[in-house]
Amino acid sequence: MKQKRMLKPGPIGVFDSGYGGLTILSEIQALMPEYDYCYLGDNSRAPYGSRSFEVVYEFTKQAVEALFDMGCNLVVLACNTASAKALRTIQQNDLPDIDPDKRVLGVIRPTAEIVGQVTKSRHVGIVGTVGTIQSGSYPLEINKFFPDIKVTGEACPMWVPLVENREYESEGADYFIKKNLDNILSKDPQIDTLILGCTHYPLLLDKIKRFLPGGVTALPQGGYIARSLQDYLHRHPDMDNVCTKGGATRYFTTESPEKFSEAATIFLHKEIEVKHITLE
Ligand code: DGL
Repeated sequence: MKQKRMLKPGPIGVFDSGYGGLTILSEIQALMPEYDYCYLGDNSRAPYGSRSFEVVYEFTKQAVEALFDMGCNLVVLACNTASAKALRTIQQNDLPDIDPDKRVLGVIRPTAEIVGQVTKSRHVGIVGTVGTIQSGSYPLEINKFFPDIKVTGEACPMWVPLVENREYESEGADYFIKKNLDNILSKDPQIDTLILGCTHYPLLLDKIKRFLPGGVTALPQGGYIARSLQDYLHRHPDMDNVCTKGGATRYFTTESPEKFSEAATIFLHKEIEVKHITLE
């Protein structure tokens, strides 16, 4: 184990396999505009959703180390698949060796914590990637806080490619969205709250709402993740003190910066400068 040392102040790292984490970043920036951020999208290896535990873990660990190397002391895995498959191992096995004072947070727990305040029927649905649904992380985390809630999952392997390939507004997208929503509601017709358990899905929100029956609320995560991060920083002033506050964000991608910058305008509604990075 490495010696404890003083952390040098740096930006907050935000990681996703691709563009999806930008939906989380923009909510975090809106709530806490004073902080500096460093966003990393592993676009060249996205999507992660159908990849094995070992691969998602390895890729995520590389990304966390890269963000630490850029000076981040706190990294948010703004990706459900990475949170489901890599977060716990990184927190428990890797952080003590990499740097015991740095922190990595995920998106599943903050979402699980609030769902009990939203559902009335106590029947909750979760849509996500194959990896997120197969990991069983959502039912596990939700039932820790709310043992009375019945959680039903539906893997939607086509939804991320629709977003990454910017086909999410096409008619083709309707078919897959309706199909998965019909599936989950036939598994449990009492669902009144549907967690969008993938950071890409807010871009599909309009269509999801259109295909959901009246009494079912679709729940994007971004706002909850942002408030949970703010709360974390209030509760951990030592970490807050080493998060720089200059209101600047730097963007990195493992794919083409031009492509990323163009696609990112859909998520962020502004032009951004992007740099290339290689993860290994
Ligand atoms: N955005 C990620 C998530 O929240 C994963 C998308 C992917 O790479 O499959 O699960």
